[in-house]
Amino acid sequence: MEIPSGVYDVLTDDRTVIAGDRVQIPFDLDRALYEQVNKVLKEIGGRWDGRKAVRAHVFPFQVEGFMRACLATREFPSRFEQGWYPTPERVVHDMLEHAAIRDGMSVLEPSAGTGSIAGPAAGRGAVVDCVEIDARRAHVLREQGAARRVVEADFLDLDPLDCPTGYRRVVMNPPFSAAVQHVKHAMGFLADDGTLIAVMPESVMWHSDRATVEFRELIALAEGEFIRLPDESFVPSGTSVCTVLLVVDAEPGGPLPTHGWHQRQPRQLDLFAMA
Ligand SMILES: C[S@@+](CC[C@H](N)C(=O)[O-])C[C@H]1O[C@@H](n2cnc3c(N)ncnc32)[C@H](O)[C@@H]1O
Repeated sequence: MEIPSGVYDVLTDDRTVIAGDRVQIPFDLDRALYEQVNKVLKEIGGRWDGRKAVRAHVFPFQVEGFMRACLATREFPSRFEQGWYPTPERVVHDMLEHAAIRDGMSVLEPSAGTGSIAGPAAGRGAVVDCVEIDARRAHVLREQGAARRVVEADFLDLDPLDCPTGYRRVVMNPPFSAAVQHVKHAMGFLADDGTLIAVMPESVMWHSDRATVEFRELIALAEGEFIRLPDESFVPSGTSVCTVLLVVDAEPGGPLPTHGWHQRQPRQLDLFAMA
């Protein structure tokens, strides 16, 4: 979405401070302009913190580089487009506890946003590859420098067999509009002894459409677990959606369609190529 020109002028004003995880505007705006600025910053993921010591919009990620990229194009990605809800710290902590990452472990984050999970995973010694569909968020990931590789792409278009090996861990908080599809696709990138940890909407526990029912059956076969997260878990990211954490281990010859499973499938012969 386009940044309205009045908002652009405020954000590029010399007095505006954009640093770390916050945007601070230390001068008065008329009510209408303030509402516009507030709307844009909230849509980008910020939350107004009116405490005397803060008085700034605070973001659940380092906003500086991200904002620079937005201002360069005079556009911003609305948080509602592509289901962008950064994973709050508390949830990331739980995910990484389940992941039990060891130094040098390969990790895939296939809908990496601005790195709320990827950054801390790298901080624990993982070698992290990220996929992100949005150019600006991919730019932020590259600037952060925590990931070994950042692929700007639609994850669902990527072929697991283009990866030489599977990842020991897949950690993800996919767009909830297609969460089951993303998680199933991600299994194709998982090593045969790997673990997948995904934040999913709580509705995955009870939705009765065929894809979700089959997904639950697959997880049950693999003895995976849906762990309910506290109701308020995503409030810091501006949504009260109820969520679960899926933790599922792969095993050689097990039911999950892992990277090894894909490798074992017979390749379809392209008979026409021989003509
Ligand atoms: C719920 S957010 C989570 C972001 C990040 N994982 C985090 O925890 O902060 C989902 C992210 O997936 C990205 N996304 C949406 N569709 C995608 C796709 N098809 N391929 C790759 N990334 C996608 C969105 O741009 C967004 O950044």
